[in-house]
Amino acid sequence: MFKKSYQFFALVLFSIFNVLVTSASAIDLDEATRTVVADSNGNTTVLTPEQVKRGKRLFNNTCGACHVGGVTKTNPNVGLDPEALSLATPRRDNAAALVDYLKNPTSYDGLESIAEIHPSIKSGDIYPRMRSLTDEDLFSIAGHILLQPKIVTEKWGGGKIYY
Ligand code: HEC
Repeated sequence: MFKKSYQFFALVLFSIFNVLVTSASAIDLDEATRTVVADSNGNTTVLTPEQVKRGKRLFNNTCGACHVGGVTKTNPNVGLDPEALSLATPRRDNAAALVDYLKNPTSYDGLESIAEIHPSIKSGDIYPRMRSLTDEDLFSIAGHILLQPKIVTEKWGGGKIYY
C-alpha cells in the first residue's frame, strides 16, 4: 500500500518535471510573434517554425557577412531594420518585396537595378551561394528579416552600439 502510493507520487513528480523541462526548452515562438507582413497591401502571414529555423540558417550563411545583426556593413544608411525598409522605394518592409529584392535588387530610390553588385538570383554567376536558393528559401530569409525586430527589438539594425 505504501509502496504503491510512493510509486504514484514518483510518477506525478516525474510528469511535473517533464512538463517544466519541455516547456522551458520549447524555443518555438508563439503564432503572434511568427506573424509578419506578407505584401504591400498589409496582408499578414504566419511563418512556420521550420521556416523560422531555415530563414535564420540561410540568412546567417548567405547574408551574414554583410548584414550581421540587420546592419549593412558597407552602407549603414541602408540597413535591414523596419524603418530603413519602409523608407525604400518601393517599400521593402514585407515578405513579397524582400523576395522581389533578392530576385532583382534595386537602388534605395528604386531607380536602377543593382543585381550586378548585390547578391541576387539574377547574379548567381557572381554569387554562387544564391544559385541554390528556391522561392521557399527566399521567403524564409525574408521572414527572418521581418521577424528579428520582433525578437531582438531595436538591436536589429541598431549598428555598432549593440554589436
Ligand atoms: C557583399 C555584401 C552583401 C551581401 C552578401 C548581402 N547584401 Fe544586402 N545589401 C548590401 C549593400 C551594400 C546594400 C545597400 C545597397 C544600396 O546601396 O542600395 C544592401 C541592401 C540590402 C537590402 C535593402 C535594404 C533597404 O533598407 O532597402 C536588403 C533587403 C538586403 N540587402 C538583403 C540581403 C539579403 C537577404 C542577403 C542574403 C541573401 C543580402 N542582402 C546579402 C550588401 C550585401
